Amino acid sequence: MKKLLVLPGDGIGPEIVAEALKVLDKVKDTFNLAVSVDEALLGGAAIDATGNPLPAETLDKAMSADALLMGAVGGPKWDHLETSKRPEKGLLGLRSSLNLFANLRPAILYPQLASASTLKPEVVSDLDILIVRELTGGIYFGEPRGIRTLDNGERQGYNTYVYSESEIRRIGRVAFEAARKRGGRVCSVDKSNVLEVTVLWREIMEEIGKEYPKIELEHMYVDNAAMQLVRAPRQFDVMVTGNMFGDILSDCAAMLTGSIGMLPSASLDAHNKGLYEPVHGSAPDIAGQGVANPLATILSLAMLLRYSFAEAEVADVIEQAVSKVLDEGLRTADIWSEGLQKVSTQAMGDAVAAAI
Ligand code: IPM
Ligand code: MG
Repeated sequence: MKKLLVLPGDGIGPEIVAEALKVLDKVKDTFNLAVSVDEALLGGAAIDATGNPLPAETLDKAMSADALLMGAVGGPKWDHLETSKRPEKGLLGLRSSLNLFANLRPAILYPQLASASTLKPEVVSDLDILIVRELTGGIYFGEPRGIRTLDNGERQGYNTYVYSESEIRRIGRVAFEAARKRGGRVCSVDKSNVLEVTVLWREIMEEIGKEYPKIELEHMYVDNAAMQLVRAPRQFDVMVTGNMFGDILSDCAAMLTGSIGMLPSASLDAHNKGLYEPVHGSAPDIAGQGVANPLATILSLAMLLRYSFAEAEVADVIEQAVSKVLDEGLRTADIWSEGLQKVSTQAMGDAVAAAI
């Protein structure tokens, strides 16, 4: 029996997770999967109930689970809290405690949605990029950090951007291994014209590149990478980068596909245990209205089955079901356009479950 822990979180989180669980129930019945489902509090929901964005009970359950499915965390209700007490801290604590260092963020354009992109169809058609983002190091976790008061009375904010060789090496390997199963190309993104930490990053990527002579390795400065993503995104296969650059570039890549509401992600440790979540946030402005797009969460469930539960065929079936409902013209508001059928969060979940 595989143990799944569900973390609905905040905003639209509970609604979209509910639809993914509908799909899970359907595949459990259809394919006789032995999966137990437990639930825990994370983020703002956990702050409201316990005062802590990552309660001990949640962390215990997370440690013993085989995989985690998350909705989203955060919202204006908790924006006044200091950084160390915010909902996001719960998610960051979970990533770090579980050693989920490898964040895989595919940006795939569904042909049915080519017109939903803000870029011209000829620029984005057939887009298939995998962003491999380092997730437990870099400036997100570097010490020292804080806000201090200088001798002259002025306050100063500071963070530390650090990467050790071993951290760079293990994320580099994930990227090269992924490239081996895809297009055979890795683009490593850094800012080595300015930041020493990424001079080391580039050096280690070069070293790993020598272990993979068949993979083509290219380096790109992050500012150029952002520009190339909107200029000619199809030049990329696998992009590998640090925590903060990866955060920014993955939002950018997501939008190329028309809707951030479509994109799943996986955050893996060294043994394929993972936390799966949509790339989008908690969208508090539309929470509770039944209009959120549940497809990114449903596709995150597919990734979970593929990577953590070794059920690649079931994952394929879910991905095909999503494609089928798009073919049928069903769209949530974020991807809807004239002539297509606008459906609610729940109706979209029902349709995917029915297509299985
Ligand atoms: C993401 C989010 C998180 C991050 C936030 C919610 C802490 O933006 O997963 O991309 O910055 O990593
Ligand atoms: Mg982000």
